[in-house]
Amino acid sequence: MPDSRETGRHAFVVGYPIKHSRSPIIHGYWLRQFEIEGSYRAEEVTEADFPVFLGRLRDGTAGYSGGNVTIPHKEMAVRLADRPDVLSEELGAANTLWVEDGLVYSTNTDGLGFLANLDERRPGWDRFEKAVVLGAGGASRAIIQALRDRGFDEIHVVNRTVERAEELADRFGRKVFAHPMGALAEVLTGAGLFVNTTSLGMHGIPVPDFPLERLKPEATVTDIVYVPLVTPLLLQAEHHGLATVDGLGMLLHQAVPGFEKWFGRRPEVTPELRALVIADMETHA
Ligand code: ATR
Repeated sequence: MPDSRETGRHAFVVGYPIKHSRSPIIHGYWLRQFEIEGSYRAEEVTEADFPVFLGRLRDGTAGYSGGNVTIPHKEMAVRLADRPDVLSEELGAANTLWVEDGLVYSTNTDGLGFLANLDERRPGWDRFEKAVVLGAGGASRAIIQALRDRGFDEIHVVNRTVERAEELADRFGRKVFAHPMGALAEVLTGAGLFVNTTSLGMHGIPVPDFPLERLKPEATVTDIVYVPLVTPLLLQAEHHGLATVDGLGMLLHQAVPGFEKWFGRRPEVTPELRALVIADMETHA
């Protein structure tokens, strides 16, 4: 927590564990860039202690304007917030909090980060009607919501455990369809976007050969895994001559709205910031 003698504005990222978070690098870069007197720090808080942490955020004794929430507190954050917005309430998870007049507000900027990354790196990626999302865990929800809100007509969720995909189809409405893994080739046919939201490709987990030739030739393939930056799926897509977008930009862009709320300036995702985070990934792999 900030020292009560400190001046300026202060924000946090709260999670458990928290030492691998790259958010302090991102916000620290913007604080320096704008020469803002303030701080952004990592808070390691257990699930049992999270309600107390939130109470101290609300009553001002923690000294914070707001902050980011990461695993495992995203669901509890939206439940405990006084004013969750529509996005975080529908998702049942918040990643951004701020305090106004003694009330805690929450939102979720993951979907926005996902869209902004694709808009930046592959303009026109969203001109197709059909998207395929692999995975039905916590990370896929924000993406399904974002694709639906962007106007995709068909969002096909393919998951090893089909029941989890069905739950998401029920939650996100009539444009979302659930399928088992075996349906992947059929579902990819004619799609303009393929997104991996699973842990496949992380930590050397082997990845099957995906039938990417079924996609439209102008389709985009993206992965929300960004360690490694070029995942096995993205490599396969490159071999098929498809356009690819890595997942790092989603992390960078999801941070923008929070910084603006807490510090009052709208920051930009620059090549220098991207390089800074990549350098950190290389030294703390
Ligand atoms: P997160 O919140 O990061 O999305 P999660 O809720 O544990 O994490 O979800 C992980 C996703 O990766 C799920 O879609 C999971 O499939 P199941 O729902 O069937 O568990 C998927 N996943 C993980 N390992 C996988 C593997 N080896 N093959 C296929 N899917 C896998």
